[in-house]
Amino acid sequence: MILGISGSLRERSFNTALLREAERLAPEDVAIEVADLSGIPLYNRDLEAADGYPAPVADFREAIRGAEAILIATPEYNFSVTGVLKNALDWASRGSDSPLNDKVAAVMGAGGRFGTARAQLHLREILIHNRVLVLPRELLVSRAGEQFDDELRLNDEMAQRLLRHVTELANLARRVQPASVSADRRLEQPSRFDQR
Ligand SMILES: Cc1cc2nc3c(=O)[nH]c(=O)nc-3n(C[C@H](O)[C@H](O)[C@H](O)COP(=O)(O)O)c2cc1C
Repeated sequence: MILGISGSLRERSFNTALLREAERLAPEDVAIEVADLSGIPLYNRDLEAADGYPAPVADFREAIRGAEAILIATPEYNFSVTGVLKNALDWASRGSDSPLNDKVAAVMGAGGRFGTARAQLHLREILIHNRVLVLPRELLVSRAGEQFDDELRLNDEMAQRLLRHVTELANLARRVQPASVSADRRLEQPSRFDQR
């Protein structure tokens, strides 16, 4: 399962629509579920210290942990990601058991003329800091209002590009094994250091 994460809470958000389209267009063997960030409170370390993770945060963290990959659709706000997305990622990043560690991800975004290019660069930095392996390919949906119809369905060309993005993410996730499996393999095949 790929977990979709939208940086917008807006009802007719182009970014949430992009994830809904990914859900609809994905190959049969790739399931996509979109996370609900609407109940996640603003990060406050006092909250965490008093009661642990609030329920919507715990749910979000478990959804990431259980996913083979994450697919993030970010709007661009003031040249960066939205507070909604950054806040959710801040919660997810907490602790040595952060579900982001070693996760595979792809980023994309729907916005204005530059298609969220600047926000996506910031997002990549945030993800790299959290040991997330990010698909190199980017998907920029420029002038989003012209790419979606009234039902928030993408035009054919953009739908093809989205399908390729999702397929590449799924392929990357399949190629990357969990760290524990790789560690076992390494034990079976001693490195030159072990042989000295
Ligand atoms: C506070 C705020 C800041 C914004 N800053 C930018 C920006 O820096 N660059 C840009 O291309 N669009 C900017 N926008 C426009 C949004 O990217 C646009 O409204 C987009 O459709 C929001 O994503 P959504 O449709 O998923 O809600 C901004 C909008 C808001 C509300």
